Amino acid sequence: MPAIVIIGAQWGDEGKGKATDLLGERVQWVVRYQGGNNAGHTVVLPDGQDFALHLIPSGILSPGVTNVIGNGVVVDPGVLLDELAGLEGRGVDTSRLLVSADAHLIMPYHVAIDKVTERYLGKAKIGTTGRGIGPCYQDKVARVGVRVQDLLDEKILRQKVEAALAFKNQVLVKVYNRRALDANQVVDSVLEQGERFRHRIADTRLLLNQALERGETVLLEGSQGTLLDVDHGTYPFVTSSNPTSGGAAIGSGLGPNRITTVLGILKAYTTRVGSGPFPSELHDEMGERLRKTGGEFGVTTGRSRRTGWFDSVIARYATRVNGITDYFLTKLDVLSGLERIPVCVAYEVDGERVDEMPMTQTDVHHAKPVYEELPGWWEDISHCRSFDELPANARAYVHRLEELSGARVSAIGVGPGREQTIVRHQIA
Ligand code: GDP
Ligand code: IMO
Ligand code: MG
Repeated sequence: MPAIVIIGAQWGDEGKGKATDLLGERVQWVVRYQGGNNAGHTVVLPDGQDFALHLIPSGILSPGVTNVIGNGVVVDPGVLLDELAGLEGRGVDTSRLLVSADAHLIMPYHVAIDKVTERYLGKAKIGTTGRGIGPCYQDKVARVGVRVQDLLDEKILRQKVEAALAFKNQVLVKVYNRRALDANQVVDSVLEQGERFRHRIADTRLLLNQALERGETVLLEGSQGTLLDVDHGTYPFVTSSNPTSGGAAIGSGLGPNRITTVLGILKAYTTRVGSGPFPSELHDEMGERLRKTGGEFGVTTGRSRRTGWFDSVIARYATRVNGITDYFLTKLDVLSGLERIPVCVAYEVDGERVDEMPMTQTDVHHAKPVYEELPGWWEDISHCRSFDELPANARAYVHRLEELSGARVSAIGVGPGREQTIVRHQIA
């Protein structure tokens, strides 16, 4: 049976939490494969309760699903324990959460370095979430990272932390004028944390492959989005992992041919948090209106999200680099009440029309949106449950976006609730 991957098609916050929750009823496993607690995934349950998940897969809210923090994720042990406690405090059963032994640990020095580096960059900062994500992935690639399995071997853990801090303390003290961290304190604290979730540490790549062999369905829940991918995004204004669908195979240990459905989550307009180019960004009262109506404030950092019109150059790009088979178009309800809705169909770069994502970042920075205007609709669509119930202009908007994006829109979000969804083609 298949593996399905959910990926953000823009700059994150497209509604991946809601999409995961929607499919949660029909899958046996939900896996986070990259990122860490830089993510903020909102799930609104049918009883109205809403949850913000950062590190734990959104499938934790679907009874019977086994949830996996995969090898590609970076895990802050304190955040893991706090998030578990928060969920348990609200009556959520967390017994079915496993953590890959190969996932890397975000250590206190990663968080410290993330924050000081951003401060040091000044105006050139990335606008990171300050959760230590980049420094942790740096250590992974530099082969000096600490992994979840190191919590099971105190001697090795001590060696690794001491070696890491011998260098990092020099940087913290001499370059950034910060306090040095004490290796013993760091080790004792993570060992104590590790004790509290050691029963969850597992060979998750084996378990996931065995599950597929038994005919079960695995849902891979991406975080961030295509344009925040370290390879395919607006580098350097990206995160340090691969949210795109290729990352799902690497970050879970499943073969790429296991993935039969790539569900792109696409907001009916565009948002971005943090620095970096955003060609269809609005700086006027219309941008403010989208922010207010769409509730575009970060789930993780509370920052205002930058807002703009739908950008089909980005959508076409996301379709291509992820191999998107289906789109879930979210937040269509937010666009109700507009006379006309501009959609970016191409860019103009230094006086020339460009239909696809420019090759260089310089050109992306120079890109100006070329708009096509579609007629809007006045009706409140949040109660619509079938495509036919939507106003004709809303249907035409969806059809045009399908045409421009190059993949079918199989589901449409008309509100944050699970039931506020129009399903046109069943995904799982
Ligand atoms: P994620 O990071 O991709 O999971 O998305 P976030 O949770 O950060 O942001 C999406 C926000 O939009 C959340 O507040 C969701 O509850 C909300 N949302 C999701 N789908 C819809 C929709 O179709 N309509 C409306 N109005 N809100 C939605
Ligand atoms: P979800 O999963 C939106 C952005 C940050 C910053 C850049 C790098 O909720 O869609 P990092 O802390 O990862 O090194 O920051 O990436 N960013 C997100 N933006 N949604 C997210 O997650 C994000 N996770 C990171 O704002 O610009
Ligand atoms: Mg989010």
